[in-house]
Amino acid sequence: MLKVSFEKLFSYIPEQDRPDIKPLLKSFRDEVVNPQIKCWRDYQMPLMGNPKLVDFAYNEWQPWKNDVIVAAFPKTGTTWLRDVCRYLIYEHGSQAFEFTKDLSGPHIYLEWGTETKYKILEKLPWKRRVLGTHMSAGMLNLNRLRTCGVKIIYVIRNPKDQLVSFFNMLKNTPMRRDGIINEVYPRSLKQFTASYLQGKHSWFVKKGEGYLDHVLSWYPHRFDDNVMLVYYEDMKQNPQKEISKLAAFLGVKVTDEEVLKIAKQTSFAATKQRMDEVALIPNFYNKGNVGNWKEHLTDEHSDKIDKMVEKKMAHTDIKFTYVSKL
Ligand code: A3P
Repeated sequence: MLKVSFEKLFSYIPEQDRPDIKPLLKSFRDEVVNPQIKCWRDYQMPLMGNPKLVDFAYNEWQPWKNDVIVAAFPKTGTTWLRDVCRYLIYEHGSQAFEFTKDLSGPHIYLEWGTETKYKILEKLPWKRRVLGTHMSAGMLNLNRLRTCGVKIIYVIRNPKDQLVSFFNMLKNTPMRRDGIINEVYPRSLKQFTASYLQGKHSWFVKKGEGYLDHVLSWYPHRFDDNVMLVYYEDMKQNPQKEISKLAAFLGVKVTDEEVLKIAKQTSFAATKQRMDEVALIPNFYNKGNVGNWKEHLTDEHSDKIDKMVEKKMAHTDIKFTYVSKL
């Protein structure tokens, strides 16, 4: 499926500019066949990441001056926000609007794959790129990104829904699950939650850290003029308001009618339908709501997460929303 999607992308690139993608495809395949916990500096990269590529992004990559990066811990609404940016930035029916429909994590995440991917991203016929990353702030060269004019949208979701969504995704991920992967991401939600509470879900954060530390890594950048924090629950509560703020942040002029239209075009049903077509993982989405965790987490685990949040986030003004206000 990835091969087909890259080949489809190639139809937008002149033949002489198309790189050999065999090694790139092999790198994705290897991650599924032989998933491993890797490291970049002190940061852990369990799956979906190549330390060499993180190095390249940090030290050598020259972003375009108007690049947009949607940064988020997995399962917080990354794809949704990317979709909103896509509707805001590309003219409907344009080439870029068409081919970006098929882009998912492997195509555009800064840390995933090989350098070849960056070559493809350079050659595609778009004037502004919407890229993605699951890296925490310390893994990116934020100074360079700021100097280059790159805008970063960081998405935050309440940790209980994030956890249940993460469990659902990994359960459906067609990868080999034994050894350390099975230990860190067990197949039962109870064990999975216990593993999370023990600080084993260290994705793109340091060993022993987890989702909350990822949020904390971005928190100090909330007033950077090229960074915007967006809450998943605010998007659910009032998508038009959030989309208008995003448009202003990205410097895109939109009318209220256009914002309303985009809110509808990026509704849960619409995003789900698109991802059912392009995502590599079946049932990539669950319910796309606020509060799904209540049907899954035990009271004991919920209380433990509350305590963890209280302890870790006490010095911040981050207030997670666990129940839908709709
Ligand atoms: P659930 O698993 O709770 O359904 P990511 O894109 O970071 O992997 O996040 C996936 C989560 O965002 C999934 O949560 C998915 O349903 C939710 N999501 C994606 N698009 C959405 C939308 N348009 N509205 C609401 N939730 C959305």
